[in-house]
Amino acid sequence: MKRLHLFVTTCTALTLSCKTGGSKSDAKSQSAVDQPAIEIDSELGEFLWDGEAGAGQDVADAIAESVRRRATASGGVARRDAHPKAHGCVRARFDVLPELPPALAQGVFVPGKSYPAWIRFSNGSSDPKKPDIDGDGRGMALKLVDVPGAKILEDERQAQTQDFLLINYPVFFNKDPRDYVKLMRRLNSTNPLGVASAIIPLGIDGASILAKILFQKMANPAQERYWSETPYRLGNGQLKQAVKFSARPCQAVDNTQPPKNPDPDYMRLALVDSLSKGDICYEFLVQPRPDQSFDVENSMIEWSEKEAPFYKVATITIPKQVFDTPAQRDYCDNLSFTPWHSLPEHRPLGAANRVRRVVYQTISKVRHDLNRQPRGEPVNLNLPK
Ligand code: HEM
Repeated sequence: MKRLHLFVTTCTALTLSCKTGGSKSDAKSQSAVDQPAIEIDSELGEFLWDGEAGAGQDVADAIAESVRRRATASGGVARRDAHPKAHGCVRARFDVLPELPPALAQGVFVPGKSYPAWIRFSNGSSDPKKPDIDGDGRGMALKLVDVPGAKILEDERQAQTQDFLLINYPVFFNKDPRDYVKLMRRLNSTNPLGVASAIIPLGIDGASILAKILFQKMANPAQERYWSETPYRLGNGQLKQAVKFSARPCQAVDNTQPPKNPDPDYMRLALVDSLSKGDICYEFLVQPRPDQSFDVENSMIEWSEKEAPFYKVATITIPKQVFDTPAQRDYCDNLSFTPWHSLPEHRPLGAANRVRRVVYQTISKVRHDLNRQPRGEPVNLNLPK
């Protein structure tokens, strides 16, 4: 793969913006969001991929079209294109450990600090009616609220939130944005041949990771381990480093087999049952990479835990609660999660994350516009009156 080395060497400082040519879709797209120049942190090993400029908007355009098409087909309600089926959106607490080494005590990981949080558990499939017993990648999206400090996104600088998006598999199935564009175009094409051949651009390695993600079954969304798959910066200045995240149940669970003859929505029922009986506890873990050979541009490769151990930085408590109400479902459907809802100290790294910057903002805007709902980040865990 050809990298834009020459280009990158002109943008070495992390504060430098690297202007890229706009894609042809910039002008025509109805769903285009304000796109700042793509920034890269070459000190942490980021580089721009050949043909990356415009990939985010191209992917966003393909997904936006699919969101509109599905909304029309389902009576006008626009849903998330990915992860539309939630098992529950629950109130939680994120307690940072009382003591952390300086290299980990950065960004939101202020020793002893506690944040209220929303957690949305979901299936990855774009079909919100797909029964839970079918294999799928499952999501755990965390939104810490009451987080001070200017955030990365220009139009949400004052937001009080920090999001962490995790899936129940350690690696992502693509590294090259151009292949991701091809995948999305084929997936969202109305030509059945295009859809049938969608995974070809992923190659054997990507297709095999995708298959492993999609064949996963689980008993209860709150008993599984989740990973960020993609890397993030931790910290600023001299102490900054590249890390990945993971959330792991505090205690190993004995039975993770799905039920026999299950309800199509058994994961929601399992979560309701667990949270009617008691609290759920998770460890939030950070995996610093030992050196630059752990590539931030290739999220298809797992960072070996032997060489790059995870360290606990916080405890997540989901207290016993009733969460499954129509008002809370509606509220959470209207939330927007993106890894770019972030302090600069947790800036997402790598091409997959750079593509996501445009995609999540665009799709969130499209679905809120179609549903005529206001967009905005929460400041606490209260449902609006
Ligand atoms: C280029 C790569 C990716 C693209 C284009 C993409 C796209 C999307 C889109 C369009 C949504 C719906 C957003 C909305 O409607 O507001 C979504 C949701 C989500 N994505 Fe991704 N995604 C990518 C990679 C990942 C990765 C690597 C992870 C984590 C390991 C992830 C985790 C999630 C989760 C958990 C949600 C659901 C958030 C919620 O509960 O609202 N995605 N993604």
